[in-house]
Amino acid sequence: MKKEPLRIAIAGLGTVGSHVVQILEKQKDHLFKATGNGIEIIAICARDKNAERGFDISPYQWFDDPVKMATEAKVDAVVELIGGTTLAKDVVDAALNANKDVITANKALLAKHGNTLAELTSSKGLELRYEAAVAGGIPVIKTINEGLVGNDISAVYGILNGTSNYILTQMDKEGKTFAEALKEAQDLGYAEADPALDVNGGDAAHKLAILSSIAFSHQIDLSSIATKGIEKITLDDIKQAEAQNCVIKLIGAATLENGVVSANVQPTLVPFSSPLASIHGSTNAVLVKASEVGEILMTGPGAGGPETASAVVADIVDLAHDHELFPLNQPVKGMPEATFNKVEIGTDLPKLT
Ligand code: HSE
Repeated sequence: MKKEPLRIAIAGLGTVGSHVVQILEKQKDHLFKATGNGIEIIAICARDKNAERGFDISPYQWFDDPVKMATEAKVDAVVELIGGTTLAKDVVDAALNANKDVITANKALLAKHGNTLAELTSSKGLELRYEAAVAGGIPVIKTINEGLVGNDISAVYGILNGTSNYILTQMDKEGKTFAEALKEAQDLGYAEADPALDVNGGDAAHKLAILSSIAFSHQIDLSSIATKGIEKITLDDIKQAEAQNCVIKLIGAATLENGVVSANVQPTLVPFSSPLASIHGSTNAVLVKASEVGEILMTGPGAGGPETASAVVADIVDLAHDHELFPLNQPVKGMPEATFNKVEIGTDLPKLT
């Protein structure tokens, strides 16, 4: 276990960054027990110091310049939640070059520069964590990298963009127009700063590029992912799909056959009988086909502030653990005994609600 608290700096305090701070504050005691030594936010940085963020910024050292913070703040790790591939890249480069571990939720950055960033990270003996970059709050990266490490993976596919899925669901179930549904997704904080990336399939392609790399053990290669978005899907298309007992979903799919990867993102007819047909709204789903375990389907929130922040916090805790875990997640000594309700099992079958 690490002997000291993990000291972090957070660059970017939008919907995800603000919730990361709030979760770390709210769960302080629990995270202290889970890590052995706790997590300390030392420094924070965002464009506008005066924005309302739902927490008090005064306990933390404020930086206006995230690159300066990544270089100068006395921290073990920098959390990059700025997004995009320009300033965010400078921040991550600066942090790694200053020998700090990095946590990011930035799929565009990883899809574009992941190979060089990974190389720089390894050459310095550091860590680069990115659970929140794919499928929001669903722990897919950990599951593939750790939980399925004893398997050969042959396919990974699913619904990887919450905004597109929200739009398709609202068009289908509520008869909303594309523009109305997109506006709602933006208002709910699901969409990218540039929502073109959501609706043109680019964001799903970024995520699929990362998934394909870790599932099939190859360098990230965004340019090899054939991509088409949902911009041209009409209510009429949706009705025609229904007549064939299908729904339209934006599916990202990568398969490995005889050492060759095929990967694409495109609107797809999904039969009502498929579990992917009932994934609605901003929910994501990732299906993995693996040699030993068979199929695993993971579903959950694919976008949103608290949901994505939950995955960022998991990465922070992983770094704080220093790869050592308590068998029961915290020391047994001092763990309280639980109080359980006494449940009576009757003769009638209960109904799952
Ligand atoms: N804009 C993204 C989406 C956010 O809608 O899925 C989460 O990556």
